[in-house]
Amino acid sequence: MDRLLRPTSLENALALLTDPAVRPIAGGTDLLVDLDRGGPGPDVELLDLAGIDELRGITVTVDQVTLGALTTHNEVVAHPELQQVALPLAQACLEIGSPQLRNRATVAGNVATASPANDTISALLALDASVVLRSTAGERSVALDDFFTGFRSTDLQPGELIMAITFPPMGPNTTGMWVKLGNRAAQAISVVHLAATVTRNDHGEVLDAKLAIGSVAARVVRLPGAEALLVGSPLTDERIAATGQAVAAAVSPIDDVRATGEYRTETIPTLVRRTLATLRDGDASTRWPSDPPCLGRRQRRKPIIGEVDELVEISVIVNGETHRSTRAQARSLLAWLRDEAGMTGAKEGCAEGECGACTVALDGQAVMSCLVNAAQADGATVVTAEGVATADGPSRLQQAFVDEFAVQCGFCIPGFIVAGSALLAEIPQPTDEQIRLALSGNLCRCTGYYPIEQAVRVAAASDS
Ligand SMILES: Cc1cc2nc3c(=O)[nH]c(=O)nc-3n(C[C@H](O)[C@H](O)[C@H](O)COP(=O)(O)OP(=O)(O)OC[C@H]3O[C@@H](n4cnc5c(N)ncnc54)[C@H](O)[C@@H]3O)c2cc1C
Ligand code: FES
Ligand code: FES
Repeated sequence: MDRLLRPTSLENALALLTDPAVRPIAGGTDLLVDLDRGGPGPDVELLDLAGIDELRGITVTVDQVTLGALTTHNEVVAHPELQQVALPLAQACLEIGSPQLRNRATVAGNVATASPANDTISALLALDASVVLRSTAGERSVALDDFFTGFRSTDLQPGELIMAITFPPMGPNTTGMWVKLGNRAAQAISVVHLAATVTRNDHGEVLDAKLAIGSVAARVVRLPGAEALLVGSPLTDERIAATGQAVAAAVSPIDDVRATGEYRTETIPTLVRRTLATLRDGDASTRWPSDPPCLGRRQRRKPIIGEVDELVEISVIVNGETHRSTRAQARSLLAWLRDEAGMTGAKEGCAEGECGACTVALDGQAVMSCLVNAAQADGATVVTAEGVATADGPSRLQQAFVDEFAVQCGFCIPGFIVAGSALLAEIPQPTDEQIRLALSGNLCRCTGYYPIEQAVRVAAASDS
């Protein structure tokens, strides 16, 4: 990668995209990992979408929900109306990776990558979503079910940008839910993910049903045969059981590192049964945690225009001091912070967004700095573990880590400190559930986590 292109108008972005070597980058959580593994090839140039206003924002009207293409998973999670009108999507977004990842990763990026394991896709298919696409040739809207053409392939044409994702809001007679079977509670790629929406009349008879399932075929699929079994009668145990069998019969999962095909097939009827019974019994929304933490709400930064190549200097305020340097375009923010800004608190554990040791606050949001292109941080404010302490000494949280023996080898601790500080800034008195959710992106090989959770509790209590 030689350059990062940073247009601030849609017109410029679409013109730049006519060059086949140019790839759009949103959160970068798929693309940067792919680039690191040599995926898109050495000559690719990245087009940063962050400066394009038309791609931002969530709007909800009585007829339509519109997610601008830069909508992150945490923006969906934090949106006050989406839990009501799009609960399956909110539930899927909340289970993507970790809070740090969700602060960068976008729903449109999840859709564009088109992996069968991508969690929002089943939710969006069950919500009957469409994608709005634009190129220099004009705009078109494509039903999401038609957008996916096979394994990780889509109908996105060269030069086209996803502008937005749209879908009708769930009305008062519609309930919906999304579930994930993974090998652990966080940072887990789905073994199976399933979404359902059901519309019923006042007698409980199903007027319309939409089911979508992922990680069990080359692409995430709708299940029209199983849906038809539900329509026209109430959600009886018999109908639900027959639907579960029909879903299992409609797909042919393969073995992979996460599970065997046989295991997936066996679990499908149970997942379908539990999901539909929960919808029937009216407690889908109880599967939403109270006020889930996002580790910082987005603070919109004035976009910077122009290209960054190896000669262009970037400027970042790190822990209150401005740092400028060149050679930012092909490296991560983590590498830039350590090698150019001299901040070695953030650690490289995995370099793939999995461990949280590199967590820093970028414009007030906790992120995995190994998954941020350094040039995308030009003009930003960054706080690393070094910047968390006060002028008088360690912060309350840092002191609590010492007092509660929450540190052993210490490698993971800077990441926990930044994530924990972001939690306490957002929710000064978090519940145990909120502490666990907030720290779910940070791995520790030594402590067993209990003293770490206790340190956060103690720091919160000392602030009350
Ligand atoms: C540690 C880790 C854990 C993860 N966990 C999960 C998980 O639990 N569930 C899950 O589903 N995914 C997971 N992912 C995958 C990833 O985070 C998501 O797919 C994410 O939503 C991608 O969004 P992004 O903005 O980061 O995309 P980017 O990486 O910026 O882009 C991804 C692709 O989409 C294209 N693209 C982006 N925006 C547009 C646009 N507007 N128009 C056209 N093309 C566009 C890019 O060119 C690229 O090809 C994980 C990734 C990591 C690294
Ligand atoms: S998450 Fe960034 S180094 Fe592990
Ligand atoms: S204290 Fe050693 S990895 Fe966490």
